[in-house]
Amino acid sequence: MKHLLAIRDLSPADLEDILAMSEESAAKPFADKGVALYFEKPSARTRNSMEMAVAQLGGHPVYLQKDELGIGLRESVEDVTRTLACFHAIAAGRVKDHRLLTAMAAVNALPVLNMLSDTDHPLQALADLLTIRQLCGRIEGVKVAFVGDANNNVARSLAEGCTLLGAELITASPAGYELQDPPAGVRQLADPVEAVAGADIVYTDVWVSMGQDREAERRRAACSAYQVDAALMAHAPDAFFLHCLPARRGEEVTAEVIDGPRSVIWQQAENRMHSARGALQWLLKD
Ligand code: CP
Ligand code: NVA
Repeated sequence: MKHLLAIRDLSPADLEDILAMSEESAAKPFADKGVALYFEKPSARTRNSMEMAVAQLGGHPVYLQKDELGIGLRESVEDVTRTLACFHAIAAGRVKDHRLLTAMAAVNALPVLNMLSDTDHPLQALADLLTIRQLCGRIEGVKVAFVGDANNNVARSLAEGCTLLGAELITASPAGYELQDPPAGVRQLADPVEAVAGADIVYTDVWVSMGQDREAERRRAACSAYQVDAALMAHAPDAFFLHCLPARRGEEVTAEVIDGPRSVIWQQAENRMHSARGALQWLLKD
């Protein structure tokens, strides 16, 4: 049984397969199949793109909230997972603790798909890679600079995806905010100017992720020198700007950059739906 909890679970061939299936015209391989979409955190892009992707594949999405399902409280993780398998072809989850997805996957009752955890955001990375390929015509050899809080779910999945497909990933972050256990080949720098020099893609994410509100003040102070603004983008004259969204204009990025001509955030957001189709089809393949 296949699961998709993190990009590092994939081989380069798997990743290429998913990207190819993201761009294929929609057949209806999910006819009569359900997909459970379980959310412990808010979402605009992930819920909408997943619901639309399931519908485009001919399946039926069912949105489930934390209190309603009561995993581990009302019922054990194993019993909830087995129950979902009675009705659904895939269980997708957005969770506070990645270990819940690991526990659901260990039941092996149905494929489990990570829609964001504290450590990983593989669906975002799939959309990011698709976007990079559309913009640059290739992924191998592309230089991607991630600026800001690099020890986060989006940066980790992006780093793993870039590494698998031969793109160069460079981070620029303050001390203590470097990506932990990065894939081999990732360069971690302190200087954002050095990181973005010659970049094809400049990428950032919020400094305060969901669930980190208690650390907000400390995080904003630590990351304040890592805002992506016009002056930083001037050091990467050929780069496109990417952001997973939601964004906080005036914090990790200025409005001038994110709403400017080099920003491709809406193309990137739309690609969440196309790459969700790729991930869903890959999970059911074979
Ligand atoms: N990028 C992303 O996952 O957005 P949402 O949190 O709105 O789903
Ligand atoms: N790092 C962000 C990503 C949101 C899509 C968070 O976890 O809140």
